[in-house]
Amino acid sequence: MYGNRHIENVALVGFMGTGKSTVGRRLAQMLEFLLVDADHMIERAAGKPITEIFEKDGELRFREYEFEILESIQKMKNTVISTGGGFVVPPQNMELLKQNCLVVCLWASPEKIWSRVAHQSHRPLLRTSDPMETIRELLNKRKESYCRADVMIHTDFRLIKEVAQQACHHFQAARRIQEKA
Ligand code: S3P
Repeated sequence: MYGNRHIENVALVGFMGTGKSTVGRRLAQMLEFLLVDADHMIERAAGKPITEIFEKDGELRFREYEFEILESIQKMKNTVISTGGGFVVPPQNMELLKQNCLVVCLWASPEKIWSRVAHQSHRPLLRTSDPMETIRELLNKRKESYCRADVMIHTDFRLIKEVAQQACHHFQAARRIQEKA
């Protein structure tokens, strides 16, 4: 089932506002793993915040950074990696992530996403005249990419703790399958 993969980490993927950072923190505690945020890695590499990368260098440069940090991710062990909402849109990013991570996608409805992000201003892609419509369109466009994750967890009606527990359970099951193989 997991072929030549070496599942040593959990990567949380999914749209903005699905709870990747919050769930990531809880999951890292449960597994006693390190927590790493892909956006923070990029900000460190670029020496500027994400909003500034988008403004000054453009989205394409930001996407290159996302690809570039995969090299460090591939060296990680016992780590929960929380990724940005567009991280696994390029199929090759998903494939590289899968080499040493169980990829868990957090899913939420556009309404729930909007309710979680409406009061925040640090997401350049949602600075549009109709952010709710942007969420719908982007989510629809990315759905297929998110569905390539190993596991999909719907977060609308679940507590953070429950989502983290589910992810934890899937990771432990994947590890057991690998150990037996
Ligand atoms: C993005 C999501 C953001 C951040 C950047 C682009 C996206 O991360 O990486 O603004 O393309 O959906 P979060 O998903 O953590 O908000």
